[in-house]
Amino acid sequence: MMRTRPLKVALLGCGVVGSEVARIMTTHATDLAARIGAPVELAGVAVRRPDKVREGIDPALVTTDATALVKRGDIDVVVEVIGGIEPARTLITTAFAHGASVVSANKALIAQDGAALHAAADEHGRDLYYEAAVAGAIPLIRPLRESLAGDKVNRVLGIVNGTTNFILDAMDTTGAGYQEALDEATALGYAEADPTADVEGFDAAAKAAILAGIAFHTRVRLDDVHREGMTEVTAADFASARQMGCTIKLLAICERAADGASVTARVHPAMIPLSHPLANVREAYNAVFVESEAAGQLMFYGPGAGGSPTASAVLGDLVAVCRNRLGGATGPGESAYAALPVSPMGEVVTRYHISLDVADKPGVLAQVATVFAEHGVSIDTVRQSGKDGEASLVVVTHRASDAALGGTVEALRKLDTVRGVASIMRVEGE
Ligand code: NDP
Ligand code: HSE
Repeated sequence: MMRTRPLKVALLGCGVVGSEVARIMTTHATDLAARIGAPVELAGVAVRRPDKVREGIDPALVTTDATALVKRGDIDVVVEVIGGIEPARTLITTAFAHGASVVSANKALIAQDGAALHAAADEHGRDLYYEAAVAGAIPLIRPLRESLAGDKVNRVLGIVNGTTNFILDAMDTTGAGYQEALDEATALGYAEADPTADVEGFDAAAKAAILAGIAFHTRVRLDDVHREGMTEVTAADFASARQMGCTIKLLAICERAADGASVTARVHPAMIPLSHPLANVREAYNAVFVESEAAGQLMFYGPGAGGSPTASAVLGDLVAVCRNRLGGATGPGESAYAALPVSPMGEVVTRYHISLDVADKPGVLAQVATVFAEHGVSIDTVRQSGKDGEASLVVVTHRASDAALGGTVEALRKLDTVRGVASIMRVEGE
């Protein structure tokens, strides 16, 4: 039965994502009402610049006083698509205190303060949903939180930043340098004016923290995620990757330790085999591999950014939260009961590709091999090329801990015969 009194929605932010949320709410109003069981009404739109022309938005709904909007008391759902930490955080907690549930796309805030925000939602018996915060349109939070709630997730491995995937894909396929590829990403509207959050891995690290927390039923803070950006990846790295039958991607990797007693979360560029499905994720697309005990391998793929795709995820949450509200219930909140320790990067075990510039003379290879052996790092392959007394040595290791590899590289740098460590790249997905 359709309820006639509409559910009231306050939209905080009307930029790339918010404007699409408003558009879909308007154009799909009849379908949304039928799916929810009550009409949804845009009750107010908070922005910074009230005079900006906003197509399809009734100017009478626009306000710069977001606080007054969430305090109105008659708002059922607040959709927060402002971004950043403040004022978004205070607006969300104020919304809960005034009876509203919240849908947000804000990965930075959820990664930093998710636990406190969930606690505030619980305290007031309200929902906090954020499907759009990770990988845009791709359904990922709900499958992990609900569909896989009866399984045991062991690994989440994914490309969760569209801008950096676009840049790395361009470097790989067109031979463009980093700066040239970044300029193209900016011109196409993928990269922001300040691309730091994307290229230095902050955006992906926030998403990794959220994914790891949900996958392992454990609180994983942003600070727990080891983060390396992709600004140092060079054309030479791609050439090395090709020689190994690999490409290079910026990966978010969340893993349960083999003994199940701890977890790790990290973001860094890595070589992956061309045969791996993630190697074929092109341009600004995202894809996430989930490995669980009973289901095996699952892959989620699609547009990870952009106004319309991200709004799709926001609207999905809006429908779910509205249904909960009509049913007098709330959806699943935070599940952190496992409380597993998050291990430091040194305990991560993987393979490595190391390029060294060395003197080309008798005994150097043996010296280098000895350093690897002394640190317990087993060598898989060695490739040498060189002339005029200098050589390039490429060593690929078997699986070793990051701490052991770090000690190896430190010792290698001290050898007179090692002129420099040209690059170190982890090898994943084998
Ligand atoms: P935009 O910068 O395009 O839009 C931000 C909106 O917030 C603007 O409408 C702005 O107003 C408004 N705003 C800013 N400060 C305030 C304030 N103090 N009070 C009221 N309104 C304010 O951001 P996006 O739409 O791109 O991103 C929104 C959120 O969605 C972020 O959390 C982002 O991480 C997330 N997200 C974005 C994706 C994307 O592809 N863009 C993908 C996935 C998630 P005004 O219009 O007047 O400037
Ligand atoms: N800047 C992000 C990206 C937006 O490039 O993926 C989506 O979160």
